Amino acid sequence: MKTTIYYFSGTGNSLWVARELAHQLPDAELVPIVGVLADAGDHQVTTDADIVGFVFPVHGFSMPTTVRTFLSRLEMPRAAYRFSVATRGGSPCRVFHHVDRILARQGQRLDAFFFVDMPNTWLLYWDVPTDEEFADIDGRARERVAGIARSISLREEVRDYEHAAWILENVLFPLLHGLSAATRYFRLEDAFYVESNCTGCGVCEQVCLAGKISIVAGRPTWSKSTRCALCMACIHTCPHHAIQLKSTKSRIRGRYHHPEVSRTELAAQKSLRPVRETRAESAYCAPRQSPSREPGRSAAPPPSDGGAEGAFGPSVTAAGDRSR
Ligand SMILES: Cc1cc2nc3c(=O)[nH]c(=O)nc-3n(C[C@H](O)[C@H](O)[C@H](O)COP(=O)(O)O)c2cc1C
Ligand code: SF4
Ligand code: SF4
Repeated sequence: MKTTIYYFSGTGNSLWVARELAHQLPDAELVPIVGVLADAGDHQVTTDADIVGFVFPVHGFSMPTTVRTFLSRLEMPRAAYRFSVATRGGSPCRVFHHVDRILARQGQRLDAFFFVDMPNTWLLYWDVPTDEEFADIDGRARERVAGIARSISLREEVRDYEHAAWILENVLFPLLHGLSAATRYFRLEDAFYVESNCTGCGVCEQVCLAGKISIVAGRPTWSKSTRCALCMACIHTCPHHAIQLKSTKSRIRGRYHHPEVSRTELAAQKSLRPVRETRAESAYCAPRQSPSREPGRSAAPPPSDGGAEGAFGPSVTAAGDRSR
């Protein structure tokens, strides 16, 4: 029985979950959604796997646009069991109904779906977690993923769905989702800017899942004509915290990417080539410090004499930085 797990991940939460599942399931392969779409060009994507899974983050009470595009182009004629796992900051939503709606076009539906609560990477409203908060979330996520792997092994039918109040589910969430989708998160993609401590290291360009960033004259520029995947990889993985979002508190929210997922692995989603990582490249899991929780005190960016020199060199430790 061959299992293929397709994943999309901005800051590593979903990649970590997908990888844990792949370790715990027999004969499972991991395939990045961004890489598979790039490889397919204008063609459909076909898999001959018997068990097919999708792991991705919740974006705006639904799925990222890239995942939606992928699902509508996927054919899985041999699939006997289909599952999906959505990582999220914690809000209830109907994302799996949206997945089912797309799969229904080829007469299929999810056999199982699950949520995993992870650190919220939506910097507009949420601070990155402290060490204590992360340890708590991580402990629960590990148990959860082990349970999900068990359910998948047994091919259980699971509908992991907690109903919210009628008014939230039927009015507020669809409204917020529609508004976010229609406005591309209130033109968030036009709000990125870079500060003077940028070293031109190129990490942001490498991790950008949309190919929207290029380094011009030693500084990142965000192309207006390329659609942002809203993955937040650029802002969270910059080793110098040099990227900010206009008119937000992004300076004081800290930065995060999953400590067991390196920038190299995030960037590697863009191709189907296997990741080759040196020890130095994966050295992002240095002991973490809690971000400052004092009101009004900013999470200081790392000193300019430390940090990644090469595009994927090890980064520095700094208050407010969970992006190592
Ligand atoms: C653009 C954006 C929108 C998000 N919207 C939601 C949401 O509606 N509900 C929620 O619970 N979490 C939301 N989140 C949080 C992510 O779903 C969560 O942090 C996820 O684990 C990130 O996974 P990743 O690291 O694989 O990208 C959002 C994050 C981003 C970047
Ligand atoms: S990752 Fe940060 S320091 Fe490196 S080029 Fe991008 S903005 Fe500049
Ligand atoms: S610009 Fe930033 S948020 Fe948008 S796709 Fe690129 S890395 Fe992701």
